[in-house]
Amino acid sequence: MSRITYVNGRYSRHRDAVVHVEDRGYQFADGVYEVCEIARGYIIDMTRHLDRLARSLSELQIAWPVDRDALVAILREVARRNRVSDGMVYIQVTRGVARRDHVFPSATTRPSLVVTARSSDPQAARAKAGEGVAVLTVPESRWDRVDIKTVGLLPNVLARQKAKETGAAEAWFVDADGIVKEGAATNAWIVTADGTLVTRPADFGILRGITRATVMDIAAGQGLKVEERGFTVEEAKHAREAFITAATTLVMPVVRIDETSVANGHPGSVSLALRDAFFETAEKTPI
Ligand code: PDD
Repeated sequence: MSRITYVNGRYSRHRDAVVHVEDRGYQFADGVYEVCEIARGYIIDMTRHLDRLARSLSELQIAWPVDRDALVAILREVARRNRVSDGMVYIQVTRGVARRDHVFPSATTRPSLVVTARSSDPQAARAKAGEGVAVLTVPESRWDRVDIKTVGLLPNVLARQKAKETGAAEAWFVDADGIVKEGAATNAWIVTADGTLVTRPADFGILRGITRATVMDIAAGQGLKVEERGFTVEEAKHAREAFITAATTLVMPVVRIDETSVANGHPGSVSLALRDAFFETAEKTPI
C-alpha cells in the first residue's frame, strides 16, 4: 500500500506530493503546524489541537486554508487512506505561494495546506516508556514567540540532534536564570518529593502543550496537585520523578538529566500511572 498525502485539495501518492518552490513555508518558515496522536483508531484531543491551530494562524494573520469542518474531514480521510490506527496525523498551513518578498503577499494568496499521516508501533512506545529516556540541557536559543507553533524549528532541530549525539532522546531548553523551559518537541515536568506535579506556566516562554493540558485533567481527576511554576535543572535532577509530554511521546518518563540519574534511574510510578490513564481521559474522535 502506498502512503497518501493531502496537498492543497489533492490526495496524492506520498512520493508525488509536492509544494511550490516559492511556498513561503519553504522560503521563510512562514507557516504553522499541528501533530495529533492517533491511538486505537481515534484522533486524540483533536478539538484542542484545532483550537491551538486557530490561535497560531490568528497570531500570524494567516487565514484558514479550508474551513474547520473540511479540515476535520481531511484529517480523517488521510488517516483512513493510510490505514493508520496508531500513529500521528500532521497538519501544516503556510501563508501560501508568492514571489519571494518578506512582506505579506496580497490578500488573495491562498494559504497552503498539507496533511500527512503515518503509523507507529504502540508496543515499541510502551517498551520505551518502561525504560525511560535521557534528556540533555541546552541554553535557550529560540525567539520569544514559541507559544506559536510555527514550522521555524531550526533551534529545536539543532538541540535534538545534539541530544541524540550524547545518547539523549530530548533536549531541554534552559533560560538565563537556570529555569527549564521545555523540550525541543515536548513539555517538561517533575514530580516533587510530596508527589506534586510541577511544570512551567504556559506563558509566552513555552508552547501550551495539548498533552500537558490533558495531563492536568488526569491529575485533577486523580486528586494530584499541580503547580505551574518554573523549576531549575538542579531541582529536576533531584526530583522524585521527571517526565516529558507531547502528542508523539505521550507521558514519557525521564530517567537521566545530563549526567545525573533521576531518583533510582528507573521510570517513576506517577509518570507511568499518568501515561496509563491518558487514553481514557483524552478526547477521542473516530477516524
Ligand atoms: N511537538 N513544546 C514544543 C516545543 C513542541 O514542539 C511540542 C510538540 C510540545 C508538546 O505539545 P503537544 O502536547 O501539543 O504535542 C511542547 C510536536 C509533537 C512535534 O513537533 O512533533
